[in-house]
Amino acid sequence: MTDPKKLFIKTYGCQMNVYDSERMVEALGGAGYVETQTPGDADMILLNTCHIREKAAEKIYSELGRLRPFKEAKPDLKIGVAGCVAQAEGEEIMRRQPLVDLVVGPQSYHRLPEMEAKTQKGDKALDTDFPADDKFDTLRNRPKAKRGPTAFLTVQEGCDKFCAFCVVPYTRGSEVSRPADRILEEAVNLVDRGVREITLLGQNVNAYHGAGPGSQGGGDWSLARLIWALNDIDGLERIRFTTSHPNDMADDLIEAHGTCAKLMPYLHLPVQSGSDKILKRMNRSHTAQSYLRLLERIRAARPDIVLSGDFIVGFPEETEEDFQATLDLVEEVKYGYAYSFKYSTRPGTPAAERAQVGEDVKSERLQRLQTLITRHQRDIQDAMVGRTVKVLFEKPGREPGQMVGKSEYLHAVHVTDSGVVSGQIADVEITESGTNSLGGRVIR
Ligand code: SAH
Ligand code: SF4
Ligand code: F3S
Repeated sequence: MTDPKKLFIKTYGCQMNVYDSERMVEALGGAGYVETQTPGDADMILLNTCHIREKAAEKIYSELGRLRPFKEAKPDLKIGVAGCVAQAEGEEIMRRQPLVDLVVGPQSYHRLPEMEAKTQKGDKALDTDFPADDKFDTLRNRPKAKRGPTAFLTVQEGCDKFCAFCVVPYTRGSEVSRPADRILEEAVNLVDRGVREITLLGQNVNAYHGAGPGSQGGGDWSLARLIWALNDIDGLERIRFTTSHPNDMADDLIEAHGTCAKLMPYLHLPVQSGSDKILKRMNRSHTAQSYLRLLERIRAARPDIVLSGDFIVGFPEETEEDFQATLDLVEEVKYGYAYSFKYSTRPGTPAAERAQVGEDVKSERLQRLQTLITRHQRDIQDAMVGRTVKVLFEKPGREPGQMVGKSEYLHAVHVTDSGVVSGQIADVEITESGTNSLGGRVIR
């Protein structure tokens, strides 16, 4: 038997890329590869890329440049680019960087083994074809290897919303939902391998409309219906989902937040801006008020829910007054977590053509927003002190005897010398709140 070839894969961008990278490892496993954490050992290096902001995309070209010594040391090394930069500018990558042997878009990962074979003959392989034909369900062998207690599971891909700033509808294509029985089968496989918490993924995960088991027409299952079916899987203890769009928060999903025991009290629901003028120009089709009213309904269903969001500052034509409306909205909502970004011009999107806000203004607004968000985040975290939360332990911490995990609210929690093991869920009384995590003791 020949030694297995080694694959080093580096993942950028969102959680869907993390999920995709795992599937690429499995797909190339069929072609004789095992994963390595050391690029110097690799027979193939794959960069799974993100195109969401200009910096994210530029980073790929400098990273490719840094791979040159590896190729010089090992001329047989294959270098590949996957993900959203591959989809958006695959041919340009091939032109700009002759080191690259393979370019594969997110819809084509199931064809990786054939593409790899082509590179072994010394040819270049490029595949950024649309549409997706349920790319990962072509994998026949479900893996059996044990894995950690948390996992991602993609249920929906693509986006039809076309926010004026965003490349996702172009790189990931239009919305496609995976059939429910495939998802449930994959979930059972994950649970058999040690997974206790599954985070359902999609660019617009709450727009999920998959075919239910035995369905003829398809599209009859909502995300809530899927969550209820997952709730019945023995051994699966926790369900989360991300990322949601405010316009797709259906009644049954809101209700599930109040009634489904395994659905965790945490919701990432990006609003992007608090100004109706800017929301309109972003093509978001909700207002600040409609968003706030939606949150009221969600909080009525699940009063202790922790909310998280995404914000863009310095969108074209954003005035100080518009920005103030964002600060006001944040002040009203009080997010447990929030991600904020300076608007980044993406060629080909409508907002790229509009009057841009200066870089200094963007930086200054970002700083003010982040200061406010950090304060709320800290307040919500500090308020956990004295409470008892349930923690799913994931791994040893940095200190001796320490174990770390996540509470229902997604706060990182650490305990010391408690005898808990990875995969265990225990009641923990929170005794301290640090910069990025909570400390506590396990209650017997
Ligand atoms: N589908 C999700 C998020 C997609 S991208 C949603 O609709 O909420 C993740 C985040 O990146 C977005 O929520 C947005 O805040 C940010 N983002 C997307 N395009 C951007 C751009 N051109 N400049 C800055 N931030 C951007
Ligand atoms: Fe991008 Fe908007 Fe779609 Fe989210 S909803 S992926 S921000 S176009
Ligand atoms: Fe980035 Fe593509 Fe995800 S652009 S954020 S990797 S969908």
